[in-house]
Amino acid sequence: MRVILLGPQGAGKGTQAQRLADRVGATHISTGDIVRAEIKSGSELGKKVQDYNDRGELVPDEVIVEMAKSYLDDADSWLLDGFPRNEAQAEALEEALDEIGEKLDAVVALEAPDDALVERLSGRRQSQATGKIYHVEYDPPPEDDEGPFIQRKDDAEDAIRRRLEIYHDQTEPLKDYYADRGLLITVDAEQEIPKVTEDILGTVGREDDA
Ligand code: AP5
Repeated sequence: MRVILLGPQGAGKGTQAQRLADRVGATHISTGDIVRAEIKSGSELGKKVQDYNDRGELVPDEVIVEMAKSYLDDADSWLLDGFPRNEAQAEALEEALDEIGEKLDAVVALEAPDDALVERLSGRRQSQATGKIYHVEYDPPPEDDEGPFIQRKDDAEDAIRRRLEIYHDQTEPLKDYYADRGLLITVDAEQEIPKVTEDILGTVGREDDA
């Protein structure tokens, strides 16, 4: 499975990628997680990308493309979450896949209205122990995950608004880009989490395909 999950902030890309990765045995590659890990490590690269991340701005293309490419090389079967986010990144991905002789199976666009997204992002928490994503109301952590449960810096209201603006301006046009290539699948992400997972699996592949 080589699939891109596309969608606005809070649509559930990370939530669905971790559920699908568990079900089909693919690697979940999240450029947001990669960025946050660099920041946490205190590396030079982390310092370079921190300000972009905290303000909800995109990290420069040349930086994020290099970060994503090294992960693509390491896995045969993957779910890309948060990359590409504009046409330049989509073209860079196409070139990188050509170089290693791979191709995309599908691009899944998760769709939900902005007002639902803001509510989801303000209630999002991530377990520091397991890395799993939860929501205080819609998807509370199970008892065996002891946390602590962290709220992301870029889930502050100003940064959420800026991220959604950038999504509509730069990332949403990728739906047409991939529709033109016959790869786009649209899924209603306003449904409950397990139903969204089933809809994705129903369109891009089943567990026994893994
Ligand atoms: P990133 O981590 O990718 O953040 P994002 O794009 O803002 O996406 P989110 O993680 O906010 O949304 P999601 O769709 O994954 O939602 P989730 O599943 O958590 O990127 C962070 C930053 O890194 C960027 O701002 C940028 O600076 C940089 N970056 C990353 N990639 C880049 C790139 N390619 N180019 C340049 N810069 C880049 O769900 C949200 C909440 O909703 C959770 O609480 C969840 O439990 C809940 N939820 C999910 N689904 C449902 C549902 N169906 N019903 C009810 N609740 C639900």
